[in-house]
Amino acid sequence: MGNRLSFIILLTVALTLVMCDVSNDKIEDDGHLIKKKTPSECNLPNELKTEIVSYSSTVEKIIKAAVNGSFKGVTYQELTLFVDTFGNRIAGSQNLENAIDYMINKSIADGLDNVHGEDVQVPHWVRGFESATLIEPHNSSLSILGLGGSIGTSPEGILAEVLVVKTFDDLQSKAEQAKGKIVVYNEDFVSYGSAVIYRSNGAIEASKVGAVASLIRSISPFSLNTPHTGMQSYAENVTKIPGAAITIEDAHFLQRLQDEGKTIKILLKMEAQTLPDTTSRNVVAEIKGTEHPEKVVIVSGHIDSWDVGNGAMDDGGGLFISWGALALLKSLGLTAKRTVRAIFWTAEELGFVGAYQYATDHANETDNFIFMMESDNGTFNPIGLQYSAGTTGGCITQEVMKLLAPINATGTQQSSSVGSDIEIWTAEGVPGGSLDTENDKYYWYHHSNADTLEAESTEYLDKNTALWASVAYVLADLSIDFPRETT
Ligand SMILES: *[C@@H]1O[C@H](CO)[C@@H](O)[C@H](O)[C@H]1NC(C)=O
Ligand SMILES: *[C@@H]1O[C@H](CO)[C@@H](O)[C@H](O)[C@H]1NC(C)=O
Ligand SMILES: *[C@@H]1O[C@H](CO)[C@@H](O)[C@H](O)[C@H]1NC(C)=O
Ligand SMILES: *[C@@H]1O[C@H](CO)[C@@H](O)[C@H](O)[C@H]1NC(C)=O
Ligand SMILES: *[C@@H]1O[C@H](CO)[C@@H](O)[C@H](O)[C@H]1NC(C)=O
Ligand SMILES: *[C@@H]1O[C@H](CO)[C@@H](O)[C@H](O)[C@H]1NC(C)=O
Ligand SMILES: *[C@@H]1O[C@H](CO)[C@@H](O)[C@H](O)[C@H]1NC(C)=O
Ligand SMILES: [Zn+2]
Repeated sequence: MGNRLSFIILLTVALTLVMCDVSNDKIEDDGHLIKKKTPSECNLPNELKTEIVSYSSTVEKIIKAAVNGSFKGVTYQELTLFVDTFGNRIAGSQNLENAIDYMINKSIADGLDNVHGEDVQVPHWVRGFESATLIEPHNSSLSILGLGGSIGTSPEGILAEVLVVKTFDDLQSKAEQAKGKIVVYNEDFVSYGSAVIYRSNGAIEASKVGAVASLIRSISPFSLNTPHTGMQSYAENVTKIPGAAITIEDAHFLQRLQDEGKTIKILLKMEAQTLPDTTSRNVVAEIKGTEHPEKVVIVSGHIDSWDVGNGAMDDGGGLFISWGALALLKSLGLTAKRTVRAIFWTAEELGFVGAYQYATDHANETDNFIFMMESDNGTFNPIGLQYSAGTTGGCITQEVMKLLAPINATGTQQSSSVGSDIEIWTAEGVPGGSLDTENDKYYWYHHSNADTLEAESTEYLDKNTALWASVAYVLADLSIDFPRETT
């Protein structure tokens, strides 16, 4: 997933808001529980509220099948088979294209409608061999991961002194010392959003002051000596220098060495290179609507991953609950009035490449995108849905999410940022939502070798598939189109 905010403080705020939304109750300072009325701005017509409530038996059926029936364990089993067969799936790789063929075949075998791939030209970056060796004050090897899009070094590598900085301002104040050195950013992780700028722009800013390479502290709040990769940028007219991530432990270590007044030297070798673009595909599968097949509710996740770990969490979980939502609805014979479409985006990690192509190719269909959902923020224990919609849409979302009470995932929170890929549309006012889960450990695994099945749980995946299927079905079947408000 690309730009997102996350950290425990934000999470706490988010959870607090979610819980307020869930109960509408309020605990006074003296500990008394005050029953709050439904938010005053919510005055949905009673008919609509009654209609939404009438879906409770259908939603219960969906939940039962997913958590204790025919579909119990299926999402996890299928995800397991998938990651064990294909491993990680970076854009440009054969693994990814094989995985895409597999999901197309699988969706056809499930009896889904209109299953096909849509071509997308995607970047093809390859890591190759890479190493970083501390040469002074003593010899030891550092764990690194080159950053996506980085250039490599010459075969003999770059041997240079190190300058450790905390921030871009700190770098500016030490600009004189940076020339000819490897800049190490030991930035704090206050939130993903505040830290990730060092990954995207670290090499540019270091190059501007004459550095020969850029190493960033991995963007994560926690580490067991695991480096985390991700995209980095270069800028026009600024010399490209190699960029890689080191571990939190090593960033702290290098900082200590500098603070102790020691000279630090690192030998950096990277074979990274960018090959010509290749053709990949977004995958589409549907359950055609009975009354308004042209109108669509979309569930989605991205099928590509980084080239480390297995991409089981980022975004295997989102991919498989999106597949699972359709496969489950199909197996239960639930066909809505509108079309429920699953999209498995390609090349999300390299800059939402598949989603941008989809937006271009389907520009004339955008008015028919009723509600777009994406799960790319972890598939941990579900809390509910974060949504981007106007006031009425928000009230409808709250009513619909109450149907998820059997799995205690009734939370709703308005958010300006509800996705990675789907933000292309939600930023233009298309209503949308992202899966909200207890994801405070998301960045522990994100973009690292630790992104494996161990980050997933069969019980949580069942609940998430149930939530995804329920919300998609109800919004696709309601008598009214989900409102698209301009405010
Ligand atoms: C789960 O399903 C089994 C068999 O269908 C049933 O005996 C059991 O009571 C169910 N458990 C729950 C919690 O619904
Ligand atoms: C997908 O199905 C086609 C046609 O049956 C088959 O040739 C191909 O091997 C399958 N690919 C995968 C990855 O399962
Ligand atoms: C450290 O490694 C370098 C390069 O491999 C070598 O030239 C040097 O002698 C080593 N220094 C020590 C202290 O082992
Ligand atoms: C890069 O340099 C060229 C030639 O000097 C200039 O025309 C162009 O505006 C520069 N681009 C940027 C982004 O500074
Ligand atoms: C959008 O354009 C495509 C290709 O030009 C066409 O096949 C499709 O019917 C159009 N869809 C709508 C909703 O106008
Ligand atoms: C239900 O969810 C809320 C909010 O996420 C959480 O605080 C609560 O502990 C959960 N209840 C149960 C029984 O799991
Ligand atoms: C991802 O989760 C974090 C923490 O709950 C939240 O702050 C952020 O808004 C979420 N992002 C998306 C795109 O859902
Ligand atoms: Zn992702």
